[in-house]
This record gives sequence, C-alpha cells and structure tokens, in this order.
Amino acid sequence: MKIVYPGSFDPITYGHLDIIRRCSMKFDEVVVAVLENNNKKKTLFSLGERKSLIEESVEELENVRVDTFSGLLVDYVSENQFDFVVRGLRSVSDFEYEFQMALVNHQLDAYTETLFMVTSSRYSYLSSSIVKEVASFSGQVDLMVPAHVAMALKNKFQEGE
Ligand code: PNS
Repeated sequence: MKIVYPGSFDPITYGHLDIIRRCSMKFDEVVVAVLENNNKKKTLFSLGERKSLIEESVEELENVRVDTFSGLLVDYVSENQFDFVVRGLRSVSDFEYEFQMALVNHQLDAYTETLFMVTSSRYSYLSSSIVKEVASFSGQVDLMVPAHVAMALKNKFQEGE
C-alpha cells in the first residue's frame, strides 16, 4: 500500500517527521508531497528548499521519497494511484479544518481516502509557523526541527537582516 503525506512543509518539523516515520513502518511506500503553490500562504522557503530539507531529514528511511505537486490534491492522488492520504492531527482545533478538507477531497473524487494520524503528544505543540516565529527572533529551535533545518532557518533570517 502506498500513502501520500501532502503539505506545505515550510519548513519540515519533528512533528511532520513523527508522522512520516510512523507511516513508513506501516506502509510499503510513503511519498511526502510538497505543495508548490498555496494561494493562502506565502512561504519562507522556496519549493526546492522545502523539498531538499525534507530529503535530508528522511535520508535513512528507505521507503520514503519526496515529490512536489501543484493544483488539486485529488488529481495528484488519482494520477499516482495512492491508496491513502495521511494528515496529522495535533489537537481538536486541527480537526475542523482537516475534516472539511477530507470531505471536500472525497466529494471531488470518491477515490481519495484520508487517514488521520494523531501526532505524538510531545510534538502536539509544534507547527511550522511557531518554528518560524521563534527562529525569526533568534530563539532556540533545536528541539523542534532537525539540525540542518535549524541552520537553514538561521541563514534565512540572517539573509533578511
Ligand atoms: O501543510 P498544510 O499547509 O496544512 O497543507 C495543506 C495542503 C497542501 C494539504 C492543502 O492545502 C492542499 O491539499 N492543497 C492543494 C489544493 C487542494 O486540493 N485544495 C482542496 C482541498 S480543500
């Protein structure tokens, strides 16, 4: 069975990696799919940067690969014949949006099935936005993201100074 984990990953955090690792133990193939253009969010990292930060993070996971997609998720899912889409749930507040998205996707294409995986409690406070906020004020993000991501954040915010 193959599963796709879509997202903005701007940047990848230990919360995302927790979902990826756990999926890699349950599914034959895991594809982390980075959204190219999200009208609602301007990203800090370019598509190429987000993709390579994930690639470096999942290097040791043999059945995980990283891809990019644009347009509707349902089209990408049916083109690539994924069995499931996975999304992480950190809290009840995530649920409303995630539920809506899963329903819309299923209505657009009944083939698309979404699975929710509950994020490990030690990462339930984490989000890419929080990480960016902390890093933008030169705060410590070492417990939130892998070292190479922390470095990329540091460089990105220094560039802007
Ligand atoms: O990491 P994010 O930003 O929460 O991920 C959101 C994502 C990429 C999964 C979602 O925005 C998405 O699938 N976008 C593609 C466009 C689409 O299919 N929209 C309809 C679903 S509501």
